[in-house]
Amino acid sequence: MKRLLMLVLSGIMVMAVSGLIFIGCTKEGPQGPAGANGTNGKDANATCTNCHNFSDTVIVKIFQYDASKHAAATTIAEAARGGCSGCHSHEGFLEKLQTGSTVTQAYNDAAPINCRTCHTIHATYTPADWALRDVTPVHPYIDTTSSIDLTVQLAGGTDGTSNLCGKCHQARKTSPWVTNPKGTDSLSVTSNRWGPHHGPQFLMLAGKGAFEMGSSAFRSTNHKGNATCRNCHMGPAQGNMVGGHTWTMSSSSTGDNVAVCKPCHSAIGTTFDYNGAQTTINTKYKTLMTLLGNKNIIDTVASSSTYLLLKGVSASKPKKFTQIQLAVIWNFNMVAADRSMGIHNFAYFSDMLDAGIAYMQSLP
Ligand code: HEC
Ligand code: HEC
Ligand code: HEC
Ligand code: HEC
Ligand code: HEC
Ligand code: HEC
Repeated sequence: MKRLLMLVLSGIMVMAVSGLIFIGCTKEGPQGPAGANGTNGKDANATCTNCHNFSDTVIVKIFQYDASKHAAATTIAEAARGGCSGCHSHEGFLEKLQTGSTVTQAYNDAAPINCRTCHTIHATYTPADWALRDVTPVHPYIDTTSSIDLTVQLAGGTDGTSNLCGKCHQARKTSPWVTNPKGTDSLSVTSNRWGPHHGPQFLMLAGKGAFEMGSSAFRSTNHKGNATCRNCHMGPAQGNMVGGHTWTMSSSSTGDNVAVCKPCHSAIGTTFDYNGAQTTINTKYKTLMTLLGNKNIIDTVASSSTYLLLKGVSASKPKKFTQIQLAVIWNFNMVAADRSMGIHNFAYFSDMLDAGIAYMQSLP
């Protein structure tokens, strides 16, 4: 609230200053006839009040946003690293949109993801500035020559929100790269963090980005054709706990925000575990984790629950893995880092894990 008052006050100051300049200029020559409304600079400034006014619209959005992980920005320090800044800072993101390159500069004094990262705030100073900054198809980091468009056609128009979120919520390319996921030749890995990085949700929703190493292509549940990130993560908000600009799905005080699923799944209960989907995926996930752990491929003790590290691998201690093993590890960490436990794309998660389990069980 204090922040908004500051905002309005500083907005008024800007208006006052431009008013002064206006008066300053007219002092130079003889006083002209009074201009008609809308023909002088003052009236253009009046559009500020479209947003900077005493209605609650912006207050509510700021309130919700302030409670989000985007605002908490626990990873903002990564902005000071080139390449990381494109998703971990406002400045890097805008640079990425402008250059179209995944290579971004390092930024000090970086701003976190904020209103104008996603909206074109203060471009025209009209309500048109609420427009989303970029909803064009995504050229994923793992294959910048390809293009993924998750725009959903709705009765009243289109929603390209997923493309905006997906410019950051996707996997990163890693080295060495798997070129033949069914290959039994070995590659040397020099980092225990080898894998897709965090936040691959856009790719998972799209049913892309996993290495198909089983006998058949992975299936997809068609959430991507029916819902965008917004439908589930920005549904009607409950305070600043879930929904809206918190982007949060679940909180200790509200439980799972199943209200966002209800328009399409009227029979859903009180949790996201619709038709036992999350339980099913979690069971397969745990099974594959145990299999990978037993073969000393991943370190189930030292790792976080959302990203599993390779065991005994470092730059000074490289380790060889077959391409097919790397495909299994990659797919496994896509599921771990996604964290929807199957909701983004149930069939895809299921097939990815089944293929990994089948491979691991086939080993002597
Ligand atoms: C489309 C809505 C919109 C319009 C129109 C608009 N603003 Fe803003 N303004 C915002 C938002 C959103 C913020 C950022 C709020 C935040 O980050 O907490 C902001 C922030 C500000 C700030 C705080 C400093 C800053 O840049 O963050 C000032 C000052 C400001 N606006 C002045 C103006 C003036 C003057 C005009 C008219 C010339 C104007 N605004 C028009 C939405 C708008
Ligand atoms: C500029 C890149 C960028 C864009 C665009 C972006 N995000 Fe994020 N998002 C991030 C980063 C980075 C984090 C982690 C923030 C941190 O912890 O520092 C994050 C965090 C989140 C989280 C919280 C995850 C958790 O740990 O609880 C959710 C949910 C989320 N984003 C959803 C979205 C949605 C939905 C959109 C589109 C409307 C979106 N994001 C757009 C980069 C982005
Ligand atoms: C991570 C991206 C993201 C950030 C950051 C973000 N928004 Fe939004 N915002 C969205 C999306 C997506 C929508 C829904 C878009 C739509 O309705 O077309 C939206 C909708 C809105 C709307 C409704 C616009 C309309 O046309 O009715 C307002 C107002 C708004 N946001 C204000 C803010 C303010 C204020 C901030 C900063 C405190 C902010 N947003 C930060 C993504 C974002
Ligand atoms: C393509 C976009 C993208 C790039 C590039 C990127 N990140 Fe991230 N990163 C994300 C997103 C999105 C999240 C949040 C994911 C989530 O909450 O699900 C994240 C999360 C993280 C986290 C938090 C992990 C956790 O357990 O909470 C760290 C640390 C991190 N990134 C470091 C880096 C570093 C270091 C680099 C550069 C070498 C980098 N990132 C490059 C998108 C990216
Ligand atoms: C069909 C609904 C749905 C869609 C569409 C969807 N999500 Fe999710 N998402 C979920 C659910 C449910 C969870 C898991 C929440 C839980 O179990 O606590 C989740 C989890 C996440 C998380 C982990 C943090 C958290 O809140 O648990 C991130 C980050 C995320 N989604 C980002 C995205 C992005 C980005 C998009 C669009 C590319 C997207 N999601 C599309 C439903 C959805
Ligand atoms: C805009 C509509 C829409 C929303 C919102 C939505 N879903 Fe769905 N969901 C669908 C459709 C349509 C399918 C079936 C897709 C197919 O047949 O490939 C589906 C399929 C599923 C499946 C796979 C079911 C199965 O048995 O194969 C699960 C699980 C699921 N949704 C959970 C959720 C959850 C949890 C939420 C809320 C977080 C949610 N959905 C939100 C439309 C939606």
